[in-house]
Amino acid sequence: MADVKKKTIIDFRRMKKDGEKVVYLTGYDYLTAKYEERAGVDMILVGDSLGNVMYGYDSTYPVTMDEMIIHCKAVRRGAPNTFIVGDMPFMSYQISDEEAVANAGRFVKEAGCDCVKLEGATESCISRVRAITNAGMLVMGHIGLTPQFGAQMGGNKAQGKSSSAALRLVEAAQQLEAAGAAMILVEGVPAIVGKAVHDRCSVPVFGIGAGSGMDGQLLIFADMVGYFDDFTPKFVKKYGNVGGELLKSFTAYAEEVRSGQFPIDAEHSYKIKAEEAAAFEEALKEYDNK
Ligand code: KIV
Repeated sequence: MADVKKKTIIDFRRMKKDGEKVVYLTGYDYLTAKYEERAGVDMILVGDSLGNVMYGYDSTYPVTMDEMIIHCKAVRRGAPNTFIVGDMPFMSYQISDEEAVANAGRFVKEAGCDCVKLEGATESCISRVRAITNAGMLVMGHIGLTPQFGAQMGGNKAQGKSSSAALRLVEAAQQLEAAGAAMILVEGVPAIVGKAVHDRCSVPVFGIGAGSGMDGQLLIFADMVGYFDDFTPKFVKKYGNVGGELLKSFTAYAEEVRSGQFPIDAEHSYKIKAEEAAAFEEALKEYDNK
C-alpha cells in the first residue's frame, strides 16, 4: 500500500461510529512492521509479548523498558505511517504516577509511539491512566486476561467466566474510560462479555480473544502467521505457515551447502575482468614460488 496516511485517534473514533473494524496486530521488528504497513494494518502493538516471542522468556515479567524502546524504534522505522502502541512492561508503571508518566513519555519521545497501553484496572492503574492522559498522551487500557497479573490470576487463563467477574470487567472498562483511556483492549473473555464491555463504552474497544462484537481485532502476529509455536491460544486463527517455510528453507540450504550444490560460482559470485583474472593468476604463481 503506497502512501498510507497514518491514522489518528480521530480516525479510530470515526471508524467506531461507522462500524468499520480496526485491524490491529503486534509487531516487534523493522521487517515485520514493514510488511504490516504494506498490508494496510491500522495499528501495531509493540507488546511486551516480545518477551515470549523474541526473547524466549516463559512470561512477560522480565521485559524491560529499554528492550521495549529498542523494539518500538525498530517498528517505527519499518512502519512510519502506522499508529503504534507501546506496551508498558512490568514495573514501568506499577510504582507511582510519576514513574508511569516518565516511562510513557519515553515511548513517545524516544520511540515515536502514538499511544501507550497498560494492563489492569486496579485503583492504582486507573490513577496511572489519569496521570498519563493528563500529561497529554494517549492511553489504551487493557483488561481481562492481563499477564502482568498472572500470579494473581493463577496463570494466564480466560477471564470473566462468572457473572460477577464479567460484571466487574464491564465496570473496569467504564472506570478506565472515565479516567481518560482513549481506547480499551479486552483480552481472553467469552464473546458475550466482550460485547457487553463494547456496548457500554463510548471509546473504541478492541478485542483479542474477546469475540466478534468489538471495534477491532488484535492478534499476536507470530501466532497468526504460524511462526511462534511454543503454545497457541484458543482464539488464534493461523493465516500462514511461516515456521514451516523457514524450516523448509533452512533444511534445503543445509543440504545444498553440505552437498556442494550451493554456491554455484557462475551464479552466486562476483565477476572479475578476464585480464585482471589472468594477471592475478600470474601474480599468484610468483607469490607461491617465493
Ligand atoms: O503484549 C502483548 O502482545 C499484549 C497482547 C497479547 C494484548 O499485551
